[in-house]
Amino acid sequence: MERPIVDPYRRRFLRFLTLGAAAGGISGAALAQTLRVSPRDILEAKEALNVSDFLPIAERTMRPAHFGYLQTGVLDDGTIDANRAAYRNWGIRARRLIDVSRIDLTTKLLGETWASPVVLAPVASQRAYHHEAERPVARAARSRGALQILSTMTNISIETVIADRQGPIWFQLYPTNDMDIAKALVTRADRAGASAIVFTADLLSGGMRRETQERLARMDPGDCSSCHDRSAGFADLVRRKAMFDRFDLGEARTLNNPSLTWEFIRRLRDWTDKKVLVKGIMTPEDAEMALAYGADGLIVSNHGGRAEESLVGTLDALPAIAEKINRRVPLLLDGGIRRGTDVFKALALGASAVCVGRPYIWGLSAFGSEGVEAVLNIMDEELRSVMQQAGVTRIGAIGRNNLTPLG
Ligand SMILES: Cc1cc2nc3c(=O)[nH]c(=O)nc-3n(C[C@H](O)[C@H](O)[C@H](O)COP(=O)(O)O)c2cc1C
Repeated sequence: MERPIVDPYRRRFLRFLTLGAAAGGISGAALAQTLRVSPRDILEAKEALNVSDFLPIAERTMRPAHFGYLQTGVLDDGTIDANRAAYRNWGIRARRLIDVSRIDLTTKLLGETWASPVVLAPVASQRAYHHEAERPVARAARSRGALQILSTMTNISIETVIADRQGPIWFQLYPTNDMDIAKALVTRADRAGASAIVFTADLLSGGMRRETQERLARMDPGDCSSCHDRSAGFADLVRRKAMFDRFDLGEARTLNNPSLTWEFIRRLRDWTDKKVLVKGIMTPEDAEMALAYGADGLIVSNHGGRAEESLVGTLDALPAIAEKINRRVPLLLDGGIRRGTDVFKALALGASAVCVGRPYIWGLSAFGSEGVEAVLNIMDEELRSVMQQAGVTRIGAIGRNNLTPLG
């Protein structure tokens, strides 16, 4: 289970070792061996056997408060568990004696072609995980030919990220409560070269309480007030967020807006010619509404278990949504994807592509760009090998007939 491995004593012991070794002139390699305190510990990105191998390293490199923000769900974190558990309900049908010597992972979405169906989900404030923030992620996306979705809450400007990516990205929108600001964000992303706007609809009311985050923040021995000034409210939230650096905040008081309705999708359509996707869809009814109001694509998502404590896993929600959509628009899915087999199952149940969130942040925090690349590479390799076992050579050929329900 993907639980925070909160062991402050071990953390302090490792810090003590690091400082002591540096002071005593002990080499990096000797220190690295000392730090390998568990069989799962890796010292280089290439040692990772799976994406979860980056988690303990990431935990060690981050402040407890930031690790809590990354790992948290809401309430009992039950929807995080539901996202993962859903993959256990499906088995993969192994097929033999099909020519699987060439496997093609290329994936077409809204007229663009990507090297893989694995997409980098929007994750806010990446300076909390690496001093270069979103830039190493853009470089990894470039080298892997992957689609990167950039959060409204990016620390690095969208212009710089697109320059690093050397190609289009998608921009994720939190609208704020001020429609002038929402429009300005969309216009800036549009002009910078984003090829799609992804409107996140699952946190409009702010989401439920993130208890794990709050508990871990209490354990952080550092002084959070040197970076965060809670009394400044929204202004503090968007301080150091590059999308907000060009305009005064006007009427904006919140990142989201609980009064928005489906009409907002129409407004978005008026503001941009780019493709518009809605992220956070969990029911066929909402999928239909999004299409009726003009969405070009959907992302089945519960924000990685950070929005509602519904206990409904995204993979469980997918088949009914896919049936309703019937391939009229691309349908992406995220939440709990940790293995190539998970990617395969989501594609088989109707997803056109999948997004991963936390795993690439573990890679980023542990090894920068190399870590993000390794996460994408591992996912692709696992997907490739499960496609071979299932006797499917193209992404578009993966279907419901490749799965069998379990239990
Ligand atoms: C630390 C963190 C920050 C996130 N920030 C955003 C964000 O700014 N915008 C957004 O639409 N989703 C955001 N998400 C949700 C992700 O885009 C994605 O839906 C989720 O992480 C997928 O689940 P996974 O982490 O289990 O892969 C965030 C998720 C995490 C873990």
